[in-house]
Amino acid sequence: MGDPADAAHIREVGVIGAGQMGNGIAHVLALAGIEVPLYDAKPEALTRALETIGRNVDRQVAKGLVSAEAREAALRRIRPAAGLADFSRCDAVIEAATEKEDIKRAIFAGLQPHLREDCLLATNTSSLSVTRLAAATDRPARFIGMHFFNPVPVMKLVEIIRGIATDDATYRTVAGLAARLGKETALAEDFPGFMANRILMPMINEAVYTLYEGVGTIEAIDTTMKLGCNHPMGPLELADFIGLDTCLSIMQVLLDGLSDTKYRPCPLLVKYVEAGWLGRKTGRGFYDYSVTPPRPTR
Ligand code: CAA
Repeated sequence: MGDPADAAHIREVGVIGAGQMGNGIAHVLALAGIEVPLYDAKPEALTRALETIGRNVDRQVAKGLVSAEAREAALRRIRPAAGLADFSRCDAVIEAATEKEDIKRAIFAGLQPHLREDCLLATNTSSLSVTRLAAATDRPARFIGMHFFNPVPVMKLVEIIRGIATDDATYRTVAGLAARLGKETALAEDFPGFMANRILMPMINEAVYTLYEGVGTIEAIDTTMKLGCNHPMGPLELADFIGLDTCLSIMQVLLDGLSDTKYRPCPLLVKYVEAGWLGRKTGRGFYDYSVTPPRPTR
């Protein structure tokens, strides 16, 4: 667990990428009293993110977890950024852009001329090498992995990944920042998939194999894991929630990085992604979300 005192000086944290993860990260930072410039290459994604954050904070207000005044103050702290120059006052920047290495590298290259020299850089990558991303920046010692979980306002963990060059002060500050957000932390070494996805994704992939080989139906597999193992969501429902393209790309990182065929992505997962059936975000994955309740697609 980090010590919030180690991050007491953090006043402004930029977020790059306003998708599922980026909007959740901006949400928890703003509620913790931190100023948040939020940037996305697509201006319409920024508008959508602000609406989503408003709706998600409303859920917390309705539950009595957040007061109406805190809601207003938090929403005021999130500033849509017109460009990367808006990050010049930040104490830290968290990158939560698309999970593609060339895109992340281009963002860091565009960002660093605008940053204060002591600004920390964190990536929310779920599986790319933190060490390799850090090496492409001008500050590998002040670069770290800060892996949040979806839905960010609800999930209690931040997995922290130190690259080989990350210094102790950066680690302590980032662990302290996670504590200020009310999150527990778990420290992972920088190996493919870190801890969460090294364990979670092979389970999801195995659930897809279980379906592919006809051992059980979608409903039977999800019911088994929900009721038999007390998982809040079944693995196929969870795969749809995460995004099947993300699941596939993480399996590919595990296979490439660890060179063990046990990480071979299930051909059925590949086929769903090829079909554009990526889960909730496209309205269809292992379930069809155009109907309520969602209907299994096999
Ligand atoms: N913002 C704020 N609050 C939210 C929220 C959001 N985006 N989404 C849900 N909530 C709140 C709800 O208001 C509700 O609050 P109370 O408990 O106070 O009533 C609570 O969360 C539960 O939500 P629901 O009642 O709507 O639904 P649920 O009970 O089915 O729970 C869930 C939803 C929390 C998502 C639960 O199903 C769950 O934990 N699923 C597993 C999620 C998971 O494994 N996430 C990790 C994915 S892996 C990842 O993210 C990393 C990666 O790299 C791939």
